[in-house]
Amino acid sequence: MTLLEPADTAPAATDTPDLADPSLYRSGDPEILWARLRARSPVYRNKRPDQEPFWAVLAHREALEVLRRPDIFVSGRGMRLDDSPAATDAAAQRMLIVTDPPRHARLRHVMNAAFTPRTVARLHHTIRATATEVIDEALERGDCDFVDVAARLPVAVICDLLGVPPADRPFMLDRTMTAFGHAGPGSADRAAAARAHTDILLYYAELADRRRREPAEDIVTALVRGTVDGRPLTDEEIYLNCDGLVSGGNETTRHATAGGLLALMRHPGQWEVARRADHPMETTAQEILRFTSPAMHVLRTAVQDTELAGRPVRAGDRVAVWLPAANRDPAVFTDPDRFDALRTPNRHVALAPGEHYCLGAALAVAELTVFFEELTARAELPEPAGEPVRAASCLIRGFESLPVRLRSRRG
Ligand code: HEM
Repeated sequence: MTLLEPADTAPAATDTPDLADPSLYRSGDPEILWARLRARSPVYRNKRPDQEPFWAVLAHREALEVLRRPDIFVSGRGMRLDDSPAATDAAAQRMLIVTDPPRHARLRHVMNAAFTPRTVARLHHTIRATATEVIDEALERGDCDFVDVAARLPVAVICDLLGVPPADRPFMLDRTMTAFGHAGPGSADRAAAARAHTDILLYYAELADRRRREPAEDIVTALVRGTVDGRPLTDEEIYLNCDGLVSGGNETTRHATAGGLLALMRHPGQWEVARRADHPMETTAQEILRFTSPAMHVLRTAVQDTELAGRPVRAGDRVAVWLPAANRDPAVFTDPDRFDALRTPNRHVALAPGEHYCLGAALAVAELTVFFEELTARAELPEPAGEPVRAASCLIRGFESLPVRLRSRRG
């Protein structure tokens, strides 16, 4: 099979698949499976061998219903299937993404304070400068793994947002790639990832100390100065929220970028549309988010008995919103499996509209917009240089590798 064929092999045709099984996403084309399950019911009761079952929300309407009701569907009891209960307890009501109302809005306000007009302007400068540098280097190499190419921009942006000085950025790139990259399932990789994560946590501690002495316009300064309910954040809360940014903003943006390129390669004519001088690239960035939906699921726990699509959800039930499935719902998106660089309107849920709407949404859109503006301006349509390998993960819809051949644009 070549890279240009539209789909990978079909997933196992069992009647009761476990959507949390990572192997489903390695070789399969899960869109077929999600469409089959969604056609039966927008909400699927996912049973698992030796584990608690969960509800998987596969349709757009019900996805919004869950995301917009943080009073019924809470985040503080775990943000992802298979997170360890100890990790959940350590972060709950401290790290933004697993904090529930009313504290959630107060903590979010502290973090939002970092996004001053000057900081946003500086971040935009970083995005443009890094994107051009990364693309120029990749064009010089020609053959490259695009998953690696796509890694550098998100790390640079998060370092800038955190206030990591330029001299320390290679260290952060190396440590975050090891800690949060898809290194594979081996135990040696897991040990290396744990060590890298410890290095990062120690680094946050240094950074926080420095910002207490020398405040700057960055998010660490916002965290060390901010108060919630009249109390400053503890060191642990500061490190957890730095970690939330690093883990939430890197892999997602990286795989959206890689998947965006693959979509442009596989859908004839779309590269040509995207490269036109007057093309609204932000529209394409939104379509990349819909089409790639790199955050595969977000988890909630029901705190009262309720109903979803007529199905009884009991207090204590876990509800996983399968974002890429909702983003292919034909009730909302015309021809949902087609990548349309000009799709409007585009009410995708890749950034979880609702109480926990992605804090980095504007940055993610800016990164994709600028990256593809620069890439289409500088390169011819990239060609496949091998088979893409999908990541075996039910958390991130992404790639282990995406080999491509890049050539500079002629004329
Ligand atoms: C393509 C890129 C991205 C995607 C697909 C994405 C997706 C998401 C999703 C689905 C959520 C909601 C999680 C939940 O409800 O449990 C979320 C929240 C969050 N994201 Fe992103 N994200 C992206 C980029 C970023 C970036 C660049 C940053 C940081 C600079 C970031 C930081 C966060 C944070 C801090 C939250 C928690 C917000 C809250 O709980 O109020 N994300 N993101």
